[in-house]
Amino acid sequence: MTCRRYVIACEVDDYVAKFAQNCFAISPHGQKITVEVAPALETMKKLADTGISFDLVFIDADKKEYIEYFKLLLDSSLLAPKGFICVDNTLLQGEPYLPENQRSANGEAINQFNRFVAEDDRVEQVLIPMRDGVTIIKRK
Ligand SMILES: C[S@@+](CC[C@H](N)C(=O)[O-])C[C@H]1O[C@@H](n2cnc3c(N)ncnc32)[C@H](O)[C@@H]1O
Repeated sequence: MTCRRYVIACEVDDYVAKFAQNCFAISPHGQKITVEVAPALETMKKLADTGISFDLVFIDADKKEYIEYFKLLLDSSLLAPKGFICVDNTLLQGEPYLPENQRSANGEAINQFNRFVAEDDRVEQVLIPMRDGVTIIKRK
């Protein structure tokens, strides 16, 4: 098996993608980073279809799609055995802990995501209460 060290970034906004690519172009390690401009789920499905696996995935895009990102990573070989997922904003200003009728749409999405991960036996996870919350998930 070939093991290569690189990063594929998913970005839906063309302006943001170009800005990042310009920064990577002048970085000594920039050539290891590719930016795919499309909704993250679309890019992830294409990558999954190629059979590629990643040791580390960082999730920080559309909160309402977090469960779909997680399912795709675990249901395919996109996340390698014993691979890690780091998920940003899993405390979302404490909203998941508010009564249901006081949560925003993103607060409710994060609440459902946190429960979904906690109930999935394929993973171990820890939610680190740092700033807006980061969850580290390991595929068993
Ligand atoms: C909070 S920022 C990410 C910041 C970055 N992770 C960092 O730490 O610097 C969220 C980014 O995700 C992008 N984004 C939002 N929804 C997306 C989606 N469905 N697919 C891909 N990118 C998305 C936004 O355009 C924005 O640039």
